[in-house]
Amino acid sequence: MDQAIASHKATRGSQWWRSGVIYQIYPRSFADSNGDGIGDLKGIEQRLDSLEKLGIDAVWLSPFYLSPQKDGGYDVADYCDVDPLFGTIKDFDSMLEKAHSLGIRVMIDLVPNHTSDQHQWFQKALKSSPGSPEREFYHFKDGLGENGELPPNNWVSMFGGPAWTRVKEKDGSLGQWYVHLFDSSQPDLNWSNEKVQEAFEEILKFWLDRGVDGFRVDQPHAMAKAEGLPDHPYVAEAGAGFIEGRENPPMWFQDEVHPIFRRWREILESYEGDRAMCGEAYVYPLSLMAKWVRPDEFHQTFNFRFLDAGWDPSKLFDAINESFEAFDGVGAPSTWVLNNHDVMRHRSRFGGNYGRATASDGVGPNQPQPDNELGLKIAKGATLFMLGLPGASYIYQGEELGLPEHTTLENKFRQDPTFARTGGQRVGRDGCRVPLPWDKTSSSIGFSETGKSWLPQPESYGLLARSVQEKDESSTLSFYRQALSLRKELALGEGSFDWVPGHLGPDSLGYENSGVQVIYNFGQEDIDLGSAEVLISSEPIVGGVLEKNQCVWLRNA
Ligand code: NOJ
Ligand code: CA
Repeated sequence: MDQAIASHKATRGSQWWRSGVIYQIYPRSFADSNGDGIGDLKGIEQRLDSLEKLGIDAVWLSPFYLSPQKDGGYDVADYCDVDPLFGTIKDFDSMLEKAHSLGIRVMIDLVPNHTSDQHQWFQKALKSSPGSPEREFYHFKDGLGENGELPPNNWVSMFGGPAWTRVKEKDGSLGQWYVHLFDSSQPDLNWSNEKVQEAFEEILKFWLDRGVDGFRVDQPHAMAKAEGLPDHPYVAEAGAGFIEGRENPPMWFQDEVHPIFRRWREILESYEGDRAMCGEAYVYPLSLMAKWVRPDEFHQTFNFRFLDAGWDPSKLFDAINESFEAFDGVGAPSTWVLNNHDVMRHRSRFGGNYGRATASDGVGPNQPQPDNELGLKIAKGATLFMLGLPGASYIYQGEELGLPEHTTLENKFRQDPTFARTGGQRVGRDGCRVPLPWDKTSSSIGFSETGKSWLPQPESYGLLARSVQEKDESSTLSFYRQALSLRKELALGEGSFDWVPGHLGPDSLGYENSGVQVIYNFGQEDIDLGSAEVLISSEPIVGGVLEKNQCVWLRNA
């Protein structure tokens, strides 16, 4: 715990994105309206009422664009069209209108680092000659070696295997290579090309004109690449990634991205209403990330420092201090997040103490299984701890139901490219993407009328169906609703932050937000709550004490 102790002043009456709770919808797994086993936009529209009841402020939709679906739609073939799997552009408009009528804002995913190989830009590039303007949309390079048979540099893919694929030229001969930081079906765009920049400005306007409230931006820290695409200096240690404190490799957080974000911010601000962009930026330390959320760049970025803290009191303490220090320094809200479609669900993650690597790689039937009871207890406590923090909070579909990860999914169902690209060594992220259970009595637990489901649901999801939990005041769903409603009533999202002396870890962490004390017990000893009024607790308080792995919101008597 070597950080300075943070303090944060309230930001009452500010824009929604500074304090809102944003709920991530993974469309293919949310709700299926036409029985094909794949969630769709109509399904979302039909179920929006339940999100209003939950008490969230906005939704963020993962991609629903035209796509061959090699990476769950993060391989976009047309940024301005809806994939027939999910419906039509009319369905989108109708869903948006319904959301707005319920007071729910809608953010959509923008995937600017790469396209699908089926995108017309890439198809045109393939048919054009080396050095042509069409190839300049992407990073095409001649290979090394006598006949260009070796990849142009040592980069590897985030999903495993090489980051380069060689193409056949028009005459059928083996030709240039293109770079893809993810799957070979996801070629990286060349962001130093003004044509690419202009094309994306039009894409932003297309969706802003339709009325979206903002964008979640995929992999923005990979968009700019260092001139000449030099080797990754320590690829053997870091693989595709980077190591904090070492020089940043040529594909991660290059300074050339900033003018692009400034232009996007100008575009958003030229529209009425508070439109906002959240960057999925892995940029460390957060003092560097703060440059990304200066007043004329992103409105906010995901705080993966908090997610990566793995519910370790010392890491959390540091993460929170670092967050307020960095983001307050530039006037941006901190965000808080524990789950998304790329990491193991927090109930299972905390029930097995899985490290960050396992969390993003998923867990399969042959690996140690989590303790789901312990996991739920910690997860509820962690959520309550998170929701009391001022700033914007992100929650991921299904966490309000206490869903565990599907950790026994059979390999034959796996679709995440990570699984195939690593020869099964990493099982990938399918386990957190399993379709939601809505209604216990119907097939595929209410996900789809026909009982179809693109990934099988584990048996445990039956009892966790929303319809079951809605009737039960002691359910995880009721707990989330109560916490979200109190957060709103007490305006904690716009509130203040000060650590509470005596709760600076490692046995407990406690902070005060606008007169409300939030305490989480990490230690073996019970904590006496004295005469303070309990506003909400993650587990029932017995005998006036906070037990290990419980969290409570208190008001001093
Ligand atoms: C981050 C997304 O969240 C993830 O699902 C995707 O695979 C990669 N970016 C590549 O787009
Ligand atoms: Ca469907």
